[in-house]
Amino acid sequence: MAFDFISKSLKERADANLLRQRYCVVSNKDNIIEVNGNHYLNFATNDYLGLSQHPQVLQGYVEGLAVYGSGSGASSVVTGYTAEHKALEDELCEVLNKPAAMIFSSGFAANQAVCHGLFTTHSASSENEKTSGSIVSDKLMHASFIQGAIDSPVKLLRYKHNDFSHAESQLLKANKQSDNILLATEGVFSMDGDEGGVAQLCELAQTHSQNKPWVMIDEAHAIGVIGESGFGSLDTSAVNSEQVDIVMGTFGKALGTSGAFIAGSHEFIEYMVNMSKHYVYSTSVGSAQMRATRVSLALIAEGVEREKLHNNIEYFLSKARMYSIPLLPSVSPIQPIIIGEPALAVTCSEALAELGLWVPAIRTPTVPANTDRLRVIINALHTQKDIDALIDGLVLVLSKHEQLG
Ligand SMILES: Cc1ncc(COP(=O)(O)O)c(C=O)c1O
Repeated sequence: MAFDFISKSLKERADANLLRQRYCVVSNKDNIIEVNGNHYLNFATNDYLGLSQHPQVLQGYVEGLAVYGSGSGASSVVTGYTAEHKALEDELCEVLNKPAAMIFSSGFAANQAVCHGLFTTHSASSENEKTSGSIVSDKLMHASFIQGAIDSPVKLLRYKHNDFSHAESQLLKANKQSDNILLATEGVFSMDGDEGGVAQLCELAQTHSQNKPWVMIDEAHAIGVIGESGFGSLDTSAVNSEQVDIVMGTFGKALGTSGAFIAGSHEFIEYMVNMSKHYVYSTSVGSAQMRATRVSLALIAEGVEREKLHNNIEYFLSKARMYSIPLLPSVSPIQPIIIGEPALAVTCSEALAELGLWVPAIRTPTVPANTDRLRVIINALHTQKDIDALIDGLVLVLSKHEQLG
């Protein structure tokens, strides 16, 4: 029977407590979400600054709709590239100190595009010639990058999470094979919440001056969260933007809209505009969304929400310490609690939901086996009372299951 593996695979996933399920959210306001007729306090959104509800961002959408309508109607290389896309690119270049940028419909597409486009050459006889090269990346990079790297024409060498001597030995291996090496990490890791050592990675790249690899950073969870003005790893004194060749970031997290960008040299971006099938053969993101994202970028620079976010994170951490809630070393909004096996992670998540707290269980293969976890996310719109309720719930549930430190 055709595709008879489907029911077997689904059953296997369900038996291992790994089946994914979608929950239909019918309303979402001030961190209260409604699911199946019940209301929950939301500790799961990547909207770290609450900008998806910010009146000025919503106004940005309205203004964009009035000028451009809803959809863009074409790929960016046809008529889908408007003054709003250009203005957002220019503003991103300015805050990141990069010469050029381009916008994708999602971070997933942007990461895949780099992994494919960068290792595809154009010749007179073929559009699709593959180059030789290697991708060296942190083991815990997001699936959008890792899958792109696995599917790319070149070899992927992963180094142990934040282990820069392992990165160095992987780099030496890659060097023996080809000159074209992409060395990649994340500014803030999506599942662990810790930082990716961008400065150390840049230093490592610099030591290979004969054949310097290109450094790429995925700033999906860093922009809006870290940096002196909130613009991520490049906005910290430890990193010089010239040392980073490719910056990738998303709009669907702290910026509160959706879509993504990559930034780099003029030549690199021109190459990607030509070679990235994810860009050329895809309808561009609507201009209203670009206008709203520009407003978000300006709000990040003002820093009001970022200050609230960091106050909330500090408050959460101090209370979590008080009650010996076992956390990873993260000072970002992402605060994982490792449970270690999928069934118990789901049980804890469901018990928290019974208490009105929405804290999802994140299971393998999204995270490595035996690190199944609760992923708490703190945002700028939480009140101290919200965080108190979360702490009470966590203490109750974790102590019942002997998970308190
Ligand atoms: C680190 C990282 N990179 C890329 C992506 C993909 O971004 P998008 O959701 O815009 O496709 C995500 C999404 O969760 C992510 O966490």
